[in-house]
Amino acid sequence: MHPIILSALSISAVWFVLKIFLQRKGSRKSRPSGPTPLPIIGNAHQMPKNQPWMVFSAWNKTYGGIVRLDIFGQPVVVINSSKVAKDLLDKRSAIYSGRPVSIMAGELVGFGEVFAMMPCGSRFRNQRRMVSQGFKPPNYHNIQEKEAAALVHSVFSSPGSLFSEVPLRIGTIILKVVYGYSVKSTTDKMLVDTIEMMKIFNRTTSAGAYLVDSLPFLRYLPLWMPGSGFLGRAATWRAHVERASQNPYIWSKSNPGNGTTQIPNMCGTVLQKAEGELCADDQVDLQWAATAMFGGGLDTSTSAILSFFMAMILHPDVQIKAHAEIDAAIGTNRLPRIQDRPQLPYIRSIVSEVLRWAPPGPLAVAHALSDDDVYEDCHFKKGTIVFPNIWHMLHDPELYASPMEFIPERFNEDDAEMAKVSDLAFGFGRRSCPGKNFAEITLFAVVSTVLATCHILPGVDECGAKVMPKYAYTTGTVSFPEAFYLNLQPRSAQSFALISEAMC
Ligand code: HEM
Repeated sequence: MHPIILSALSISAVWFVLKIFLQRKGSRKSRPSGPTPLPIIGNAHQMPKNQPWMVFSAWNKTYGGIVRLDIFGQPVVVINSSKVAKDLLDKRSAIYSGRPVSIMAGELVGFGEVFAMMPCGSRFRNQRRMVSQGFKPPNYHNIQEKEAAALVHSVFSSPGSLFSEVPLRIGTIILKVVYGYSVKSTTDKMLVDTIEMMKIFNRTTSAGAYLVDSLPFLRYLPLWMPGSGFLGRAATWRAHVERASQNPYIWSKSNPGNGTTQIPNMCGTVLQKAEGELCADDQVDLQWAATAMFGGGLDTSTSAILSFFMAMILHPDVQIKAHAEIDAAIGTNRLPRIQDRPQLPYIRSIVSEVLRWAPPGPLAVAHALSDDDVYEDCHFKKGTIVFPNIWHMLHDPELYASPMEFIPERFNEDDAEMAKVSDLAFGFGRRSCPGKNFAEITLFAVVSTVLATCHILPGVDECGAKVMPKYAYTTGTVSFPEAFYLNLQPRSAQSFALISEAMC
């Protein structure tokens, strides 16, 4: 062979080997680590079905703050580190604020109409604009205080009703402020339907719950085929979701001020500002924006309030301190008001500690990356699904000593420290929760009203034995405490009177 050709071939061979070596080295360096994937299915077999945030949190020890997964070829990243979450989801929010395409919840069941599930396009912006235009939390204090008192009133007479009373009261508040609608009874269809809709949402959006989200072709399975049962369920749920979204909106539109309508309310304000000129597309957007607000607020606030009751049973010492603060700052002749917040730093600390100890949305709602990105030598591909593990961030022992303990004192009554919890618990960047202030105020109203008037005690089981709750939570986009027994005693005879007065 001609020597020139031989040298050219040798140089090419060396270059080829070198290139592969450099590529391998580079790609190893450029990918965050994670459990070893199998061919084709990737890490699908390792996706935890129960409380995935706990398993992801345990992976932090092995793989660090960024965990890489591959689900049938779909790149997924779990962020365990709050610094990384802030660097990417807040500071680079422009490209980290998409939502993954959700076949089951979004397309088959119909939740793809709510902005919480949409990519950041014009409909998303339109619905979020309507929320900022129509949702005005400072106007709703009376409703929040009244429902906090109603909650105490009902649970006094029937402590076993806690798990149904809390969503009833939160649902009542949100239907009022979003639609102006006043719930008539516990069986009010408007309320029951919307609560049921949220159960469907939670069930269908839970990480890894439906295989069709990883293998979209499954949506085309014939209905007679074994394994296609989810398609029938999706169709039934879709009909329910459409009804539950439409009915309160239609009511709000037809009752702008019928005497019982709460004014202002979100839909009413947007409709009124448009002076009857809201086009058909905008009407559809307003209907679904309102559904997003109801949906976003119901389960999350319910979960936090149930966690509060659980924490108080486990920590009578915290109750004693809270009673002392309320008695000193407010006295015993009236209930605390929302405007008393500045005078009640220990109560504010309890609210923050509830959100830290048991964040209602432990993995937020998954974000999606809309462009390729590089962060500290890690390359993330466009389309990567990102789960911020809020639960881990708020239980990171380097930031929160004894993270499983409920310790409101950890904040030293410093609002800046409490704000660090809210900055994580309510999500990130363009997707951060639009109900944050409203939720914090609702929680304050409930926590301060309950602590001003009640001793929260462990309940007894069917055999009369006292049962302490365990830190045990359900799996879902929103996670709730597992059922526990509770006993609520009034702090004094006056407590009853104050509660009854506040409900009028
Ligand atoms: C304790 C109560 C609450 C907590 C812990 C909470 C937490 C969250 C979290 C973690 C997210 C996801 C953010 C992300 O993807 O980065 C979120 C989104 C959302 N929240 Fe809340 N939330 C609460 C109450 C509320 C309330 C009261 C409302 C409305 C009245 C609400 C409406 C929404 C909506 C509409 C979204 C979707 C935002 C979007 O995708 O653009 N939330 N919330």
